[in-house]
Amino acid sequence: MPADLDSAQSEASAALAAAGTLDALDAWKSAWIGGSGRLKTIMAGLKDVPKDQKPAFGKRLNELKAALEAAYDARRAEVEATAGPRGPVIDVTEPGAPLAEGRRHVLSRTIDEIIDVFGRMGFTLAEGPEVEDEWHNFTALNIPESHPARDATDNFYMGEQGGVKRLLRTQTSTVQIRAMETRPLPIKVVATGRVYRPDTHDATHYSMFHQIEGLYVDRGVTMADLKTTLVQFAKAYFGAEAEVRMRPSFFPFTEPSAEVDMKMRIRGEWKWVELGGCGMVDPNVLRAVNVDPEEWTGFAFGLGIERIAMRRYGISDIRWLFENDARFLRQF
Ligand code: DAH
Repeated sequence: MPADLDSAQSEASAALAAAGTLDALDAWKSAWIGGSGRLKTIMAGLKDVPKDQKPAFGKRLNELKAALEAAYDARRAEVEATAGPRGPVIDVTEPGAPLAEGRRHVLSRTIDEIIDVFGRMGFTLAEGPEVEDEWHNFTALNIPESHPARDATDNFYMGEQGGVKRLLRTQTSTVQIRAMETRPLPIKVVATGRVYRPDTHDATHYSMFHQIEGLYVDRGVTMADLKTTLVQFAKAYFGAEAEVRMRPSFFPFTEPSAEVDMKMRIRGEWKWVELGGCGMVDPNVLRAVNVDPEEWTGFAFGLGIERIAMRRYGISDIRWLFENDARFLRQF
């Protein structure tokens, strides 16, 4: 019988040494020294031991019990020291579900790409506030007091500050004025940003959208420079086969003025798309910012960024751009 106890002890010791986690230690504890463990079974066998051997067997049994309990405590302290406190175990070596990768919004990417192209043509970035005053949104841009573009129904007026009416800008042309007020001539800038108009939302209208504005003022700038710039942009951005068409038009801040169409590839087919307006900066605008129109001339253009992105990527509803539905956004 004591021989059985010896082999039980060595078996228990080997199993304990192999238990390297708190869970394994728990399992060992209930298998060996727990309420219905092996030790209990062996103890229950005491009654079958011949009477004369009982004292020796009982003594050996008590030693075994004490040895296993001490070994357990020591081993537990060891494992706790290396495994740390119990908690959810995350196996960082195990590959899990792949994380959904974020990406930049299709409009942000379009804006960056456009800025990049104009950057290569020597335009630097300018910016202006989205909450503007009437001077920058209208007056300095040669839009007179009585002009219907100033109607309350066509603008988000924000109340007055210091006697000055404020509104959300309706066009990035405001930045032309800000640039000429603050920068030395010559000026060659582009500005991108949000503009706001109280339009009813539908597939092609939204009360907020983005424009890119360009302004080049120098001695001897001509309409030919304007067209060359737009053509260079179209070819760099849409491909070598892209074309630009300018149709006579009217804007208060340019004279002459034109609508800008660009021929771009839409699902394999080259199509004309109306993108915005352009022209030679009106002398009244130059005078408003104390630039002498006899010495300086300039061109300006303003293009709709949603139009560019929507036609380029075949997006048929502008509202999708602002709903932030990941199922839509992750396609681009
Ligand atoms: N600001 C005009 C608009 O929002 C677009 C535009 C037309 C900008 C002609 C220009 C320009 O700079 O020269 O409709």
